[in-house]
Amino acid sequence: MTDPDRTCYMRLKRERGMAMAEKIPTRQEALELLHQYNETESLRKHAYAVEGVMRYIARKRGEDQEKWGIIGLIHDLDYEQFPDQHCKKTGDLLREKDWPEEYIRAAVSHGWGICSEVIPETTLEKYLYAMDELTGLVVTTALIRPSKSVMDVQVKSVKNKWKDKRFAAGVDRSIIEKGAGMLGVGLDELIDDTIKGMQEVAESIGLKGIPV
Ligand SMILES: [Fe+2]
Ligand SMILES: [Fe+2]
Repeated sequence: MTDPDRTCYMRLKRERGMAMAEKIPTRQEALELLHQYNETESLRKHAYAVEGVMRYIARKRGEDQEKWGIIGLIHDLDYEQFPDQHCKKTGDLLREKDWPEEYIRAAVSHGWGICSEVIPETTLEKYLYAMDELTGLVVTTALIRPSKSVMDVQVKSVKNKWKDKRFAAGVDRSIIEKGAGMLGVGLDELIDDTIKGMQEVAESIGLKGIPV
């Protein structure tokens, strides 16, 4: 093989390798999928909230914000149209779109013990599992304030409602506690991160507040 031939061969090899490489989904693709499968405003807002928190935590930990955010955005992709197949159907939909297994696994693992048998293993997966429910508690805590703003929510206001089972009754506190335990992170820190992540997207989740 002459030198020019070798260069050509190497380029071909490189190009074939790239063609076979997994595609990296963009935020725009994730957003389009979210909107395609979820018309309910509250479900979209939940996705934006989880994305905001994932991005905040990724940035704080020096991780890939884009990846963490995109997984947050699509974690409940199937919930509106396939509630009986929640988690499983998200895996099917993303596989049809050739999404990387890493993203699919992470999304599916958020429902561990409820709608999925995939145990959260990576730090990303554990955070998603731990704070998904917590975002609901922060929303309800914001909405009972006169300002209806997440900007005013503090860790202690969320903690005060922790044992009140009638408050945000749908939020399973034990999942949040289990997630924090898996991460080895204190509950206060997890709540603080969740509030701050949601504050960054306050406008898009409708919790910027009203003048009081
Ligand atoms: Fe879910
Ligand atoms: Fe969720």
